[in-house]
Amino acid sequence: MKVFVTGCTGYIGSHTCVELLEAGYEVAGLDNFSNSKKSVLDRIKEITNKEIKFYEGDMLDKNILEKIFSENKIDIVIDFAAYKSVGDSVQKPVEYYINNVSSVLTLLSVMQKYNVKKLLFSSSATVYGTPEVMPITEEAKVGGTTNPYGTSKLYVEGILKDLAYADKDFKICVFRYFNPVGAHPSYLIGEDPLGVPANLMPYICKVATKELPYLNVFGNDYNTLDGTGVRDYIHVVDLAKAHINGIEKLNNTDKNLHIYNLGTGKGYSVLEMVKTFEKVNNIKIDYRIVERREGDVDECYADSSLAEKELNWYATLGLEDMCRDAYNFSLKKY
Ligand code: WQD
Repeated sequence: MKVFVTGCTGYIGSHTCVELLEAGYEVAGLDNFSNSKKSVLDRIKEITNKEIKFYEGDMLDKNILEKIFSENKIDIVIDFAAYKSVGDSVQKPVEYYINNVSSVLTLLSVMQKYNVKKLLFSSSATVYGTPEVMPITEEAKVGGTTNPYGTSKLYVEGILKDLAYADKDFKICVFRYFNPVGAHPSYLIGEDPLGVPANLMPYICKVATKELPYLNVFGNDYNTLDGTGVRDYIHVVDLAKAHINGIEKLNNTDKNLHIYNLGTGKGYSVLEMVKTFEKVNNIKIDYRIVERREGDVDECYADSSLAEKELNWYATLGLEDMCRDAYNFSLKKY
């Protein structure tokens, strides 16, 4: 079975490609390296001793998609390719809607043309906006998103709902990721954003490796245990493995649309993350409390029992594993 992975050299995309190859799937991949490096392809080969059929290009380019679908018999598409920084999206809404929404419409039109009707879509917990009830189930109200990144994911979920209703041959699985962190145990792939990281864990890692002087903690006046933001951090390998279960679900379901929260069900604050990172890696992380970041919410953590029940999947790795693996990956310079 051949899987087409968009954003295949990205953080979650690369870890999922490793799991797909090790599970025996053939993989065709597309990436424009807007937030990743070409060397990730070599690392994936080093880990799995297998290769992806790789195409360099942009999801907005219908020609490259036509080339991929005409040269490969694609059974399932996993769509990761998107910009993903909450803070960045507040500054650049148009770029986010073009890249995160228009590109999916281009992809869906080519899928329809080639009669490829199984899709796993990478969505986000940010579609819940400012959640009212914790932990968050899939029944929770979506909307009221606080940043264009989250809104872009909400728009695509609406498009997919309409498509699933209109075309009963489509089988769609939407994964709402909480906060993916950590790295593959080989430490050959991990979270390696270009430039200054927007997300907490890669920023902490750059402080740990002395590439940045200290962490800015965005506010300590939230309605949480210690006043800092609480999130549901999930190890990227646990998250990648869920996509194997998602493919199995798509191959064995009568429902057109499934939506799952992928988290651990536990929330940790920024300061809890810092303290755990320091303990696990025996290192000091300097930080300063600064003002809140626009678009952030107080707390956000998952009830993932539906994924456990229907996908037979659950997170197995804890915060200490995430801190250890993220740091060890950051120590290797590629
Ligand atoms: C986590 C916490 C910040 C950086 C986003 C997307 C989500 C996912 C992960 C795709 C918050 C605080 C952060 C820093 C800080 N994306 N923080 N100093 O915004 O919860 O989630 O990224 O997979 O879909 O929405 O993640 O890591 O940016 O922030 O204090 O330098 O850390 O305020 O409380 P976020 P994050």
